[in-house]
Amino acid sequence: MHFHQTATFTEIQMKGKTELVRALSLTDAVGVGLGAIIGAGIFVVTGVAAGVSGPSFLVGLLVAGLVASFNGLSSAQLAAVYPRSGGTYEYGYQLLNPVFGFSAGWMFLVSKLSAAGVVAIGFGNYFYQIFPVGSPTVIAVVAVILLTVANMFGIRKAGKLNLFIVSITLISLSYFIFSGFPEVQAANFTPFAPFGFSGIAESEAILFFAFTGYARIATLAEEVRNPEKTIPKAIIITIISAIVLYSLVSFVAVGLIGTLEMSGSKSPLQLAAQSLNSPFVSRIIIIGAAAAMLGVLLSQILGISRMMFAMGRRRDLPSFFERIHPKYKVPHVGIGFTGAIILVLATAGNFEFIVRTASFTILLYYGITNIAALQQPKNQQRYGKFVAVLGLAGCLAMAVSLPFKVMAVGIVILFTGFLLRSIIKKIS
Ligand code: ALA
Repeated sequence: MHFHQTATFTEIQMKGKTELVRALSLTDAVGVGLGAIIGAGIFVVTGVAAGVSGPSFLVGLLVAGLVASFNGLSSAQLAAVYPRSGGTYEYGYQLLNPVFGFSAGWMFLVSKLSAAGVVAIGFGNYFYQIFPVGSPTVIAVVAVILLTVANMFGIRKAGKLNLFIVSITLISLSYFIFSGFPEVQAANFTPFAPFGFSGIAESEAILFFAFTGYARIATLAEEVRNPEKTIPKAIIITIISAIVLYSLVSFVAVGLIGTLEMSGSKSPLQLAAQSLNSPFVSRIIIIGAAAAMLGVLLSQILGISRMMFAMGRRRDLPSFFERIHPKYKVPHVGIGFTGAIILVLATAGNFEFIVRTASFTILLYYGITNIAALQQPKNQQRYGKFVAVLGLAGCLAMAVSLPFKVMAVGIVILFTGFLLRSIIKKIS
């Protein structure tokens, strides 16, 4: 099925076979965005960025936020006109061609599923520090099962649970900012850029990860109320909030302990909090980190299952993924599969390399978003073509800066997807 580019949303909706329910408000939508964004990036990856750039990673952070903003605006422009589940997968099909469409969907699935496994383990590790019961892996498994079940009870309930989790994360980070700010030492910001421009550029590429998730609400577009207005607003509010929050948190962390100490830690914010000599603040950071990982996991289950639903609808995955639960109106088959795959990944152990490949595949996904935005007719262009051009340039620059091996594996994963797709098309 290939819709003509000028088809209106109503036409597209009529051609679609199954639809979900529009239940998410602007607040829920912003919550889904923040839940998807705030995670390991700020709590863990800032340490790595501090190591490659010194205090000037703060500049890298702002540039990464800017690239994310250009990409986010392209997603917002597209979602306003094509508010269907699947986000870039749908835009690829409707504005480009099936090859771009399928590539986007497949790369999203691979990238988010592997990242979800890591996030589940991350949650287990943080939660274990608060309640040392069982083991981090057992906690990760329980969390995946509970979140999968929670997702089954409808998007409205999942949205409320997400808001609750995100609130805990936000309170924790705000508490860190307010208690740490008065203790910031100016001396910790010198030398500001010990590794020069290349250090800043590397930190930018590393920190882009911390902003990914900004387009999650576009993946869920079919469940958002008044999507033409709500989605662009939600994406813009989400990205601006993340940039402000990340900048303040990083500034305080550097000011408290300096980048040398941060770079040696897997929990740089926790270390910075410990310097305040208040066990309460470091506990609050652990709780915030656990909540952030849980939020990312919840939003990944939401996003992956909707992508499976959208791909099932176009027969890029088996048609049973298209089924919607008669009572709860959710794609329950996709949710179940998503939970099961994350469970396997979370217990499988070390797959760091796949995660690095995931950055490559997700950059190609965002690249396709920008190409699709450039193809939109003039009357659909909200922000000017330069936004999509800069977004695309940013994505490509980051993608080619990754090691060759990572790119090669990404390409193999892509071809494997096309192979599976042709088998599915033959048998269905
Ligand atoms: N942006 C998300 C994180 O930082 C993926 O964990």
